[in-house]
Amino acid sequence: MNILVIGNGGREHALAWKMRQSPLCQKIYVAPGNAGTASVAENVSIGVDDFARLGQFCIDKAIDLVVVGPEGPLVNGIRDFFENDAALKNILMVGPGKIGAQLEGSKDYSKQFMLRNNIPTAKARTFAAGDLVQALDYISECKPPIVLKADGLAGGKGVVISLSQGEAKAVIKEMLVNKRFGAASSKVLIEEFLNGIELSVFVLTDGKDYVLLPEAKDYKRIGDGDTGPNTGGMGAVSPVIFADSVFMSKIEERIVKPTIDGLLREKIDYKGFIFVGIMNVGGNPFVIEYNARMGDPETQAVMPRIKSDLVDLLAACGKGQLAGKNLEVHDDFAVTVALVSGGYPGEYETGKVISGLDHQGDSIVFHAGTTKHEDDVITHGGRVLAISGSGNSLEQARARAYKTASGIDWEGLYYRKDIGQDLMNYKG
Ligand code: AMP
Ligand code: GLY
Repeated sequence: MNILVIGNGGREHALAWKMRQSPLCQKIYVAPGNAGTASVAENVSIGVDDFARLGQFCIDKAIDLVVVGPEGPLVNGIRDFFENDAALKNILMVGPGKIGAQLEGSKDYSKQFMLRNNIPTAKARTFAAGDLVQALDYISECKPPIVLKADGLAGGKGVVISLSQGEAKAVIKEMLVNKRFGAASSKVLIEEFLNGIELSVFVLTDGKDYVLLPEAKDYKRIGDGDTGPNTGGMGAVSPVIFADSVFMSKIEERIVKPTIDGLLREKIDYKGFIFVGIMNVGGNPFVIEYNARMGDPETQAVMPRIKSDLVDLLAACGKGQLAGKNLEVHDDFAVTVALVSGGYPGEYETGKVISGLDHQGDSIVFHAGTTKHEDDVITHGGRVLAISGSGNSLEQARARAYKTASGIDWEGLYYRKDIGQDLMNYKG
């Protein structure tokens, strides 16, 4: 098959890296890709939202399968664009249409979907800009911490957890009236705080059947010990010790199956990944959010653990033929450490020359914000590299990832030193 992966992050590098290993993979392209994807695929300089040029490229290169990495093009309707074009509609695509992508694109839509389908989630109410007075009254009845969520896509920054009613009132004014997150906060959810530990669960579905991918834990804060501002994700671990078979079967029965049944019942044709953000509250799973894609950096920890042929699975997903497919997984642990530009998630400089890339050791170095400049690989984003170590224990996987990380450098490089540490002594 000829395959096009859309995106330019570590997630897309990991997807392309895994698909490249399949005997079914003939040519693989990544649009627009990065310096790392160029080593496993051919980069194509087309933006993720330029559907017309992506479509023409698919025709020119006889692409059989398109795998959409990020949420932007999904929410903007890339599947609908392909389905409405006679020359493109038969190309297999992994990624839902505009309506399915609303599970990520609108937190109000996804909350209503969960409520209709009896899927456990935090209680919430949605308020629009005209409802400020009611929203403030409602906050007066809420017990802090109070979770405020912009309805639309806000690049992972649209959630504010307020520790007092006064703070929540100030924040909701900022969001609804001053449009702190632009159009994304024209509606805001006020949500109950769930106290627990988070887990990322990945489902590949064709809208009727599904396979569960290995679960992962993401480390969202910038600082060691989960301190400082939220980021896109500073590291990931898979498997996750507290996600034992009892907990995973609760997730499957209470969340995954009702989600797929809900899609079917509501006639939402969904072919793609569903990333379910779960909070483990005293041994019971609750949905924090859905995403219509894989996680980043979780994908970089999940892909090395998959034994099965990913192209076979993704093509089956695109064809609506996932029934009877199983996923084989390696027993090893994977630990992924994100190497970021100094200053991230705030302002940071780019264009720094990266050294040490020739010595990857036992780890895989996935690229995120990198590009080539003459013979150098230079930084080109906030999250620059994701180093994935594998091993037969969490300790070994961590040691390998960190050994490789310690050999890489650029001016301003930063990474967390404690990825996976909390799970080494996890007692529940
Ligand atoms: P989201 O963008 O929905 O993933 O939210 C970002 C982060 O905010 C999540 O990963 C959680 O750490 C936190 N969060 C979101 N909703 C809740 C909630 N109801 N209770 C506690 N923490 C939450
Ligand atoms: N790592 C979280 C995300 O991809 O949204």
